[in-house]
Amino acid sequence: MPVPSGAKEGPSRPRPSGSPGRIPRHGMDPAAAAAAVRHRLRDDAEPARNLATFLTTSFEPEAERLHNAYLNRNLADREQYPAVDELVQECVRILGELWRGDHTRVVGSATTGSSEAALLAGLSLLHRWEERAGSGVRRPNLVMGAGVHACWRNFCRHWGVEPRVAPARPGCIGLDGAAAAELSDESTIGVVAVLGGTLDGRYEPVLEIATELDRAAAQSGIDVPVHVDAAGGGFIAPFLDPELEWGFDLPRVVSINASGHKYGQVPPGLGWVLWRDRDHRSRRLGFPVNYLGSNHTYHEFSFSRSAAPVVLQYYNFLRYGFAGYRRIHARSRYLAQDLAERLRATGRFRFLGDGRDLPVVAVTAEPDLKLSQLARQLGECGWAVPVYQLPPDLDELTAMRVVVRSDLHPADVSSFAAAVDQFTRSTK
Ligand SMILES: Cc1ncc(COP(=O)(O)O)c(C=O)c1O
Repeated sequence: MPVPSGAKEGPSRPRPSGSPGRIPRHGMDPAAAAAAVRHRLRDDAEPARNLATFLTTSFEPEAERLHNAYLNRNLADREQYPAVDELVQECVRILGELWRGDHTRVVGSATTGSSEAALLAGLSLLHRWEERAGSGVRRPNLVMGAGVHACWRNFCRHWGVEPRVAPARPGCIGLDGAAAAELSDESTIGVVAVLGGTLDGRYEPVLEIATELDRAAAQSGIDVPVHVDAAGGGFIAPFLDPELEWGFDLPRVVSINASGHKYGQVPPGLGWVLWRDRDHRSRRLGFPVNYLGSNHTYHEFSFSRSAAPVVLQYYNFLRYGFAGYRRIHARSRYLAQDLAERLRATGRFRFLGDGRDLPVVAVTAEPDLKLSQLARQLGECGWAVPVYQLPPDLDELTAMRVVVRSDLHPADVSSFAAAVDQFTRSTK
C-alpha cells in the first residue's frame, strides 16, 4: 500500500495493561497460556470478515490436519526432506504449465510471499542487465505503473535502482504499452506488468506491453524483458481467463511471481517465482550451501521455515484440480460483480475495479461521501475494509477496496451492501 507522501511513523503502541514486557519467571500450564494468548488477541479483526486482505482465511479440516502434520519440517533442509523438495519442484512445474511455459524447462522457487519473489525476480533482472550493459556509470531503472505493490519500490530502494513510474490517469492506475515503451531506455533492467493490481484488482495489458516493447526493440534495438507480478492473477487468470495472453507464451515475459497464500488458497507464508528457463534466471542468484550434508544451491533469500505451506499448495492442486480452482474463483468473481452492481445502484461510487479481473471491488466516492466514515460504520458491523490514497496524479482521491475470497457468502454480500446502502442514504 503506498504510504501517503509526508506521512510519519506513528507513535509506538502503548503496551497493554498487565503486560510486563519480560518473560515470566515461571511458566503456566498449556491451557492457561493459550487462554492468555487468545485474550491478548481477542480484539483483532475476525479474519473471515477482513475484506482488506488478499490472504486465504479459511481452510478445510483435512488441510488443517495436513498443515499441522508437516509444520515441523524445515523447507530448507533438502538433505533430510528430499520429498518435500521434490514437491516444490512439482509445484513449479505445475505452475509453469498453468502459466503457459514449458514445464520441462521452467525453474523457480517457493518464497515467503510475492514480496520475496519480487526481490528475487528484480535482482535477476538487475544482474542480467549488468551483464548486457557492461561496466559504466549509468543508473539502472525499472519501469512500472503507479499502482505497483510497495515490494517493487522496496526492491528499487535497496538495490539502487530508479523506480521509473508511469503516472496514474483518471480511471486508470495501471501501466499500458505506450507508457512502458516510452519510459524504457538502455538502462532499463525490465518492465513490471501487474496481473491484478493491489489498489484496483485490474489486470494490466501484458500482451499490449510486450507488443509495444517488441516494436521499440525493432526500432531502437533496446530489448527490455518483462516480469509479470501475478501475485493475485497467477491463480485466477489460468482458471477464469483462458483466452488472455499474459504468461510465458509471450517470449518477452522472462519471469512471473504469484502468492500461493492469496488465490492459491494456502495459509500465509507462501509465494512463487518462476523463470521461463534456467538461462533467464541470473546464475548469481544461486548460493551454494553444504552444512546440512551434501551440496545444495539455494535461490531464495530466506532459509529455515516450515514446509507446511508448500505441502498445502501441492495438496490443493490434488484436492481441487483445475475444475475445483475454476469453480472456487468463478464463484468469488460472481460475488464480487454482484457486490459491484449493488454498490453501483446507490449511484454514489465510481469504480476502479468491479470484479471483472481479480474478484475485487474498488471505488472512489462523490465528494460529499466520506469513505473513511463509511469504513468506520462498516467496522461497527464487523467488516474490515481499507481506505487509501491513490497514487500520483490521482492522489487527491481516496479509494475503498473489498477483496472477495472463497469464504465470503452471498448472504455476506447482501448484508455488506445493505450496510453501505444505509450509510449512503443517511448522507444524502
Ligand atoms: C500485485 C501485488 N504484488 C505483490 C504483493 C505482495 O505479496 P505478498 O503479500 O505475498 O508478499 C501484493 C500483495 O497484495 C500484490 O497485490
